[in-house]
Amino acid sequence: MRKNPENIVIISGTNRPDALSPAVARIYAGLLQQEGVEAPVVDLRELPHDYIHSALYDKAGQHEAFNVLRDRMKQADKFVFIIPEYNGSFPGVLKAFIDGLEFPATFRGKKAALVGISAGQMGSVQAMSHFTDILNYCGTHVLARKPRLTAIEQHLSGERLTHQPYLEQLHKQVRELIAF
Ligand SMILES: Cc1cc2nc3c(=O)[nH]c(=O)nc-3n(C[C@H](O)[C@H](O)[C@H](O)COP(=O)(O)O)c2cc1C
Repeated sequence: MRKNPENIVIISGTNRPDALSPAVARIYAGLLQQEGVEAPVVDLRELPHDYIHSALYDKAGQHEAFNVLRDRMKQADKFVFIIPEYNGSFPGVLKAFIDGLEFPATFRGKKAALVGISAGQMGSVQAMSHFTDILNYCGTHVLARKPRLTAIEQHLSGERLTHQPYLEQLHKQVRELIAF
């Protein structure tokens, strides 16, 4: 097993308690593992509850618990964002997370892959487009392949994706991300 030579971090992009995004993030970590790469998952449910009031703007860098996540993001070379579709875009908490990170050092010259998931039929396509704009603004290059996992709850059984085409898309993206 290579020890995360790519220095990849997977971000599960919501803090909703019953979210499916963390399961998709763990599945993605398993696919990377099959390619010999160990990548940690940053689960936004781990954000400190006082995050909005105690870790942003003039208080940036002062929140000990948040700084653990902040440093992990700064040290990464590549990101995988699991992006659930909320109201036709990505969750607000994901933008709040991005706004709390060190700019531009966290992003400039880095690379990212996006995976969209949704209850409906869009698979976060607009969300990934919106999020690509933000990453590009911050200086991060985004991989062109952006799998869209629609009707996710019908294709997820616990920690297993049951829809083979979704797994194939993720496999392809994993290999492309490693070579990116
Ligand atoms: C605030 C909110 C808004 C949502 N908006 C949409 C939406 O616009 N389109 C859609 O297909 N699903 C929408 N959903 C459902 C999510 O896509 C669904 O919960 C899916 O499992 C991915 O999100 P999760 O990681 O929170 O589970 C929404 C869910 C929440 C909590």
